[in-house]
Amino acid sequence: MRQLIAGNWKMNGRMGSIDAYAKMLRAAPASLFSKADLLICPPAVLLYSLAADLAGSKIMLGVQDCSAHGDGAHTGDLSAAMLQECGAKFVILGHSERRVDHKESDALVRHKAIAAAQAGLTPIICVGENLIERDTLVAESVVRAQLQGSLPDGFAGLIAYEPIWAIGTGRTAECEDIQRMHEVIRAELKTLLGQGGADMRILYGGSVKPSNAEDILATPNVGGALVGGASLNAADLLTIAACARGG
Ligand code: PGA
Repeated sequence: MRQLIAGNWKMNGRMGSIDAYAKMLRAAPASLFSKADLLICPPAVLLYSLAADLAGSKIMLGVQDCSAHGDGAHTGDLSAAMLQECGAKFVILGHSERRVDHKESDALVRHKAIAAAQAGLTPIICVGENLIERDTLVAESVVRAQLQGSLPDGFAGLIAYEPIWAIGTGRTAECEDIQRMHEVIRAELKTLLGQGGADMRILYGGSVKPSNAEDILATPNVGGALVGGASLNAADLLTIAACARGG
């Protein structure tokens, strides 16, 4: 299975910096794309310009959220259709920062996933436990419950497992822990979705960087990486993508 390397810029990036970033990505060797799919998720305001910069390349674009509603009276929100029109193919949904900052529930994430799919966007639904849940040995049941609550019927997208304690902390989960949790997620996906769940890519996220990407991407059941901080540097993201094992 080809691995997907997705950069999540979070609330970072400026108009003045995207041309140079795009130029570096465009210079990536063609061989990289035989092993990896590359996706960049900038803030929505930079999407259209980045799409122009990357037009004609193999690099795909996504966003970090979308509304659960279609176009209409929802001040401040962006519909999946608008984002799709500006160049997005994917949308990250239920990232832990949104679950915490905006109190997003599993049910809201599920509704957003439905709206995204209707507009032709592929959702990447994030799940992951916090440190207390890990320490009290309930991480697996927490993640299973998130999947049960967040995935709509017939969900066709990707999952990102992001232990909250490993996001932006420099602390990465051990490969054995990642392998174990990805097995748990795989089993739950098969229960919920049948064959679709057996084939679904499960990304790992949480302090993925050039120095640990090779080990993480070699871990069984890891279908790619969701990269935050390290994706802000195009060279680092390309180094991570070069560790992908695809085919
Ligand atoms: P990080 O973020 O790589 O900076 O830990 C990952 C994420 O939150 O998607």
